[in-house]
Amino acid sequence: MKIFDLPSPPWILAHRGASGEAPENTLESLLLAVEQGADVLELDLWLTRDGRLVAFHDALLKAGLQRKAPVESLTLYRFQRALKKGSGIEAPTLHQILEAIPDSQPVNLDIKRRSAEPHAIAKALATSLDGRAQVLLSSFDWPLLAEFKAHLPEYPIAPIGDRRPGALLDAAIELESFSVHCHRKLARREFLAAAAEAGKPPLVYTVNRSFLARNLVSRGAAGVFTDYPGRLRKSLERSAR
Ligand code: G3P
Ligand code: MG
Repeated sequence: MKIFDLPSPPWILAHRGASGEAPENTLESLLLAVEQGADVLELDLWLTRDGRLVAFHDALLKAGLQRKAPVESLTLYRFQRALKKGSGIEAPTLHQILEAIPDSQPVNLDIKRRSAEPHAIAKALATSLDGRAQVLLSSFDWPLLAEFKAHLPEYPIAPIGDRRPGALLDAAIELESFSVHCHRKLARREFLAAAAEAGKPPLVYTVNRSFLARNLVSRGAAGVFTDYPGRLRKSLERSAR
């Protein structure tokens, strides 16, 4: 298993980079999050029609196109060109991101999927990761994680969920995941305790208010995904003193 080594919790995960202060899922927001001392950089990825992994959140692209199109239906070139034309944003590939950030920086890849073949995603990941450590693969698509477990067994995985907390924790246990990632509406004390009991550190998204982050940590969250990693880091450090 590749290492995914973090300091003692609670962890600050930069949600789409420092996306409260720079455009989400860009090199700018990711590098800013590194500068701000985020424990983990979280970013979203889609597989393009020509088999490249590109950082972007939404399933559909509207900017720069005459009509909305699924990201998965576009080539990387067409996607990047339309996004740049329509919004001025340069979407980096996973390869470009890994080149730009230090090898030692932990990253959490939130892999999105609608129609791409799971094995094609696993293949593209293997190529881009090229043996790199400090990478956690997560997804709302739990069968996709099972594909990673079978074909990229060296990488830790984590299911994400925003409903059915029992099923989410069962999936984490079944997949032998590193952690379990949940929307904050699921982060009740009982769920956080059950996850910790099962050895699956619960990580909660998206938390931008310091008091909420402190509250979640006191209830048992091992970490929070935030758009403001610098601000939350300082706030959690102050409260730990
Ligand atoms: O990975 C946690 C979180 O990013 C999942 O939700 O929609 O922000 O990608 P979303
Ligand atoms: Mg995400």
